[in-house]
Amino acid sequence: MYCDLVGSTALSARLDPEDLRKVIAAYHRTVANVVSSFDGFVAKYMGDGVLLYFGYPRAHEDDAERAVRAGLDVIGAVGRLVVKSVELQARVGIATGLVVVGDLIGEGSAQEQSVVGETPNLAARLQALAEPAAVVIAAGTRRLVGDLFEYRDLGAVEVNCLAAPVPAWRVLGPSVVASRFEALRGWALSPMIGRDEEIDLLLRRWARAKAGDGQVVLVSGEPGIGKSRLAAALAERLSDSPQLRLRYFCSPYHQDSALYPFIDQLGRAADFARDDLPTARLEKLETLLALAAPPEEDVALLADVMSLPSSERHPLPDLSPQRKKERTLEALVRQLEGLARQQLVVMIVEDAHWIDSTSRELLDLTIERARSLPVLLIVTFRPEFQPPWTGQSQVTMLALNRLDRRDRTTLVKQIVGG
Ligand SMILES: Nc1ncnc2c1ncn2[C@@H]1O[C@H](COP(=O)(O)OP(=O)(O)O)[C@@H](O)[C@H]1O
Ligand SMILES: [Mg+2]
Repeated sequence: MYCDLVGSTALSARLDPEDLRKVIAAYHRTVANVVSSFDGFVAKYMGDGVLLYFGYPRAHEDDAERAVRAGLDVIGAVGRLVVKSVELQARVGIATGLVVVGDLIGEGSAQEQSVVGETPNLAARLQALAEPAAVVIAAGTRRLVGDLFEYRDLGAVEVNCLAAPVPAWRVLGPSVVASRFEALRGWALSPMIGRDEEIDLLLRRWARAKAGDGQVVLVSGEPGIGKSRLAAALAERLSDSPQLRLRYFCSPYHQDSALYPFIDQLGRAADFARDDLPTARLEKLETLLALAAPPEEDVALLADVMSLPSSERHPLPDLSPQRKKERTLEALVRQLEGLARQQLVVMIVEDAHWIDSTSRELLDLTIERARSLPVLLIVTFRPEFQPPWTGQSQVTMLALNRLDRRDRTTLVKQIVGG
């Protein structure tokens, strides 16, 4: 990632050098703070340009996404900076590819942090092409972040270090696609391989749930083992009876945001658009909630948890924070009960290892209540998450093992196409 300050030459002509120094220092501090909050690495300051690495010295499964999120946040944070009554804007270029870090002649930190490869040049060039306050990414990055963001296709741009023009995209912001699985893997899934026994088990639990004997299946397994794929495969197989499908996605970027997966689901189900006014959102939410015929107070509490204004139709009760939280959780459970009275419900909670603590409490209540509802609840998570719900009669634990050799071979063949 390469980040630069817009109009710094003009600034240097206008400002006293000492003031300019303060401006640039504040800008550097802002970039460094944002980037380190995503565990990125500040490699080098070059005047007002900053070269940053993601994936080095520490790799993460989502370094490309971290870089893009950091880029968007840098733009926002620098835009809010006012130093010496100067307003600032940054621009950011991001590229992904193979590089060698270190190993150059030199000493100390200069040696360790130097980077060799085409990628940093590409990031720097894309940055130079970017409009003020824009994040521009290259094809390698774009492929890795899939549909996690919304983009404007910039077509093929001329980059003077490369012979042919290269495709580039401006990142507009996070997308409304909630499912990380679908955003990253695409909608068209390759055929399912193996997992027949796991699917059978899920179908048996589904049969019991349909009979009103609510079931919870806890699906655990290491990253990439196929938890989301299994949930998707089950959904494909449930065509036997109509059902309401509720999907909740925990996110590594929202672990401190109370009830994030549930708020996000309500927003999607109510069909909130990016530029809806709060009043329009409130109406959409009321329409959605009305399906489960909730008490007035529930509507007020749920509107409040979604940061919508209270209305005269549903005045917000005056409660202590603790009481308000309890009542909000009850309202959310009642919402599920209301829906389950009318139809079968399949509820999928993905990636519970990233769940926030309030949602955890809500899940406790839901699992307890699901017992007597026609609900199949599937919770997926990685092995580091210790589910507290095992041992209850309605709860089944399903640990996904790695595919056997034959299935692995089939999977690889299917991907490489011979
Ligand atoms: N049994 C399977 N058959 C075919 N593809 C699979 C299977 N299991 C996983 N995959 C593929 O492997 C990738 C990782 O699986 P995913 O479900 O995202 O893992 P998890 O949710 O456990 O992190 C996806 O592209 C998925 O479609
Ligand atoms: Mg998954």
